[in-house]
Amino acid sequence: ATILVLHGPNLNLLGEREPAVYGNTTLADINSNLTAIATGRGHHLLTMQSNAEYELIDRVHDARLEGVNFILINPAGFTHTSIALRDALAAVAIPFIEIHLSNIHAREPFRQKSWFSDLARGVICGLGAHGYELGLQAALHNLEQS
Ligand code: DQA
Repeated sequence: ATILVLHGPNLNLLGEREPAVYGNTTLADINSNLTAIATGRGHHLLTMQSNAEYELIDRVHDARLEGVNFILINPAGFTHTSIALRDALAAVAIPFIEIHLSNIHAREPFRQKSWFSDLARGVICGLGAHGYELGLQAALHNLEQS
C-alpha cells in the first residue's frame, strides 16, 4: 500500500525549533525512520512538508489520483485554523491519523481545538517523534487487516 506523511508549517525546523516542546529529532530523521519501517514491510511511503496551506491541500487532492491508501498528518499550526485543509481530507475520503509531537491539550487554550480530530481515524499527541512511528504502525495494521 501507499502511505502519505504530511507535515505542516514550521515542521521543517524540527530539531532546532523550541526543542523543549518539540524535541531534538529532525524532520529528515522522522521521515527516514518511517520510510525504513514502511519499506521493510513491503509498503511505499511518501513524505511532504509545506509551510503553505494551498500546497498541502493540492497534495491531498493529488493523493486521491495517486491511489494513496492512508495519510498520516501533522497539520501543525493549521490544526487550529484550517477549515480548507480539513475540507480537502473530507473530499478525498482517504483515512488519516492526526499526529502532534506535543500534547496540545496541555498547552495554550487556542491549541486545544483541532479541526481535524473528528474526521481522523485516530489522534496521537504528546509522544514526540515516537508518535509518528506509532501512527505508522496503526496505519499498517489497518491496511494489512483490510
Ligand atoms: C504541533 C502543535 C501545534 O499546536 C503547533 O502549531 C505545531 C506543532 C505539534 O506537533 O505538537 O506547529 O502540531
